[in-house]
Amino acid sequence: MRKKLTKAIFPVAGMGTRFLPATKAIPKEIMTLVDRPLIQYAIDEAREAGIKEFIFVTSRGKSALEDYFDHAPQLEQELRKKGKDDLLRILKSTNMDSGAIAYIRQHRALGLGHAVHCARRLIANEPFAVILPDDVIDGEQGCLKQMLDVYEETGGCMVAAMEVPQEKTSSYGVLDVADDMGSLVSVKGMVEKPKAEDAPSNLAVIGRYILTPDVLRNLNRQDAGAGGEIQLTDAIAKQIGTEKGVYGYRFRGQRYDCGSKSGFLQATVAFGLARDDLRDDLLSYLDEIAVSRKAAE
Ligand code: G1P
Repeated sequence: MRKKLTKAIFPVAGMGTRFLPATKAIPKEIMTLVDRPLIQYAIDEAREAGIKEFIFVTSRGKSALEDYFDHAPQLEQELRKKGKDDLLRILKSTNMDSGAIAYIRQHRALGLGHAVHCARRLIANEPFAVILPDDVIDGEQGCLKQMLDVYEETGGCMVAAMEVPQEKTSSYGVLDVADDMGSLVSVKGMVEKPKAEDAPSNLAVIGRYILTPDVLRNLNRQDAGAGGEIQLTDAIAKQIGTEKGVYGYRFRGQRYDCGSKSGFLQATVAFGLARDDLRDDLLSYLDEIAVSRKAAE
């Protein structure tokens, strides 16, 4: 029987330089879409897929993340005294059970593959998920849960995938498709950040992965790749042609690139509009802007 997927790695060691000066004092993953930090969206998606152990690969300056997932007895007591049950409920979603969360430091910024490799001793011989919190995916069902349902049939390695404009392929891992079965594709090649003219397709890897422990073994011996970094893409590509192979999964949902300012702003607007308590105000403000822009033209 296939081993259950219970562990997820969250690589959160990046310095977030694109969001300086904000990220001088707070981790990028604590930046909020409306009132929930990026990392909360990632954790909720993992929980929906049945993940029980959460492994954070962090770096210097990320201790706010540890506090965020810790219990806050004083705050909880205050809220309880004041009868603020709704706020208490919200706080509860940030609490992690003792032992459910682990923090590992990546001491040198050697790339995403290296970050994942740092967590190898906590994974042992079982499949694991990787979630990049920069990629926020809004859908009726979480992206990882969608992937898990298909993975239960396929086994092997699976990456989330999405078509991007050809000129953007150099920002992504890109799939060379062997067999296109609709939402699922089997993969015969994977290239990290190819130039548009060299990209095998425009089907890009998005930050959700279900991986076999073989990938960790590949990372033991993985040379630096694109950008001089140890790339997760290259270690996954080594599984192509093995018995279980590698798959891409075209998920249902809207992906926001919250590693970029414009993607972050778009997500802020979208999540704001999705909230009953904010929609009307925000919509009328957006209408106002549209009207005054038209008038200025
Ligand atoms: C990482 C991966 C890349 C993937 C991307 C998705 O790149 O290396 O393969 O397509 O995430 O967001 P990064 O954005 O960290 O440079």
